[in-house]
Amino acid sequence: MEKPWVEKYRPKTLDEITGHDEIIKRLKNYVKKRSMPHLLFSGPPGVGKTTTALCLARDLFGENWRSNFLELNSSDERGIDVIRTKVKDFARTKPIGDAPFKIIFLDESDALTGDAQNALRRTMENYSDICRFILSCNYPSRIIPPIQSRCAIFRFSPLRREDIIKKLKEIGEREGLIIDDEGLDAIIYVSEGDLRKAINVLQTAAAVSKYITDEIIYKISSKARPDEIISMMKLALNNKFTEAREVLYNLMIDWGMSGEDILLQMFREIPNLNIEERKKVDLVEAIGECDFRIVEGANERIQLSALLAKLGVIGKEN
Ligand SMILES: Nc1ncnc2c1ncn2[C@@H]1O[C@H](COP(=O)(O)OP(=O)(O)O)[C@@H](O)[C@H]1O
Ligand SMILES: [Mg+2]
Repeated sequence: MEKPWVEKYRPKTLDEITGHDEIIKRLKNYVKKRSMPHLLFSGPPGVGKTTTALCLARDLFGENWRSNFLELNSSDERGIDVIRTKVKDFARTKPIGDAPFKIIFLDESDALTGDAQNALRRTMENYSDICRFILSCNYPSRIIPPIQSRCAIFRFSPLRREDIIKKLKEIGEREGLIIDDEGLDAIIYVSEGDLRKAINVLQTAAAVSKYITDEIIYKISSKARPDEIISMMKLALNNKFTEAREVLYNLMIDWGMSGEDILLQMFREIPNLNIEERKKVDLVEAIGECDFRIVEGANERIQLSALLAKLGVIGKEN
């Protein structure tokens, strides 16, 4: 089987990381000085936190970077025992070769329990002469303050449109794909700044066709075209209930979309509707209520039809 493209095209050095210019600049400075504090990488999934940590280690330690680098995924190994044993064992031995220190990378460290974080804090203190920690997390608020204050914090943002496009075009060229502009727009829309998702969607689409169109992208990611969602909402707001429901059924039955996905996309399109602010607020409320009912187990088709009916009432308000 073909290697996943997220692995095949994973950057090897800091220079190859897409976007995050300020962060990369600061990290390169650490490499140049061969010295760094403990680091905390926070941000949404798929924007390059893990990759950046690996690249930093490679740039610092060269060929044999693995002997001075310990990677732990806290979601699998989140307990206090792991911190006590694995981390301590690695942290207490000297760096190999001419490396100035070792690096312990704790991926998804917001999954560590409070006890484990407290143990970690002490380990960070005790071995800070020969060991640096890089913690990565989605939610920095789940990291206890004493750890936060010991780290230089790097906030990774969702990747910018142009950064994602650049990477997709590069991969497209290497893989012999033709991606048209609508296809690119569609990948940007469905991936929401998550480059891992964008690359995975591209690879899945490429298995269907070398010519990547928006049609294929929306189909494989079971998302509706944004304009279709908007047109359904507009029909409903203009009291064309039957027509709006036809669009809805088409999405649910022919495209196999779940009620939850349709709701999420409706929610996302609210700012793009040309209606008064007050009606947008009512819309958010109606969608929120519908979402709650579906989560509680109510019938999706009935709830979404009822939502479209509600939109008609909101549309009529003045
Ligand atoms: N900024 C980036 N530059 C280059 N590739 C990236 C970037 N962010 C994500 N990727 C791609 O997506 C994959 C997942 O990235 P990863 O570093 O694991 O994200 P995170 O740890 O933030 O969830 C990588 O293997 C790489 O192919
Ligand atoms: Mg990661």
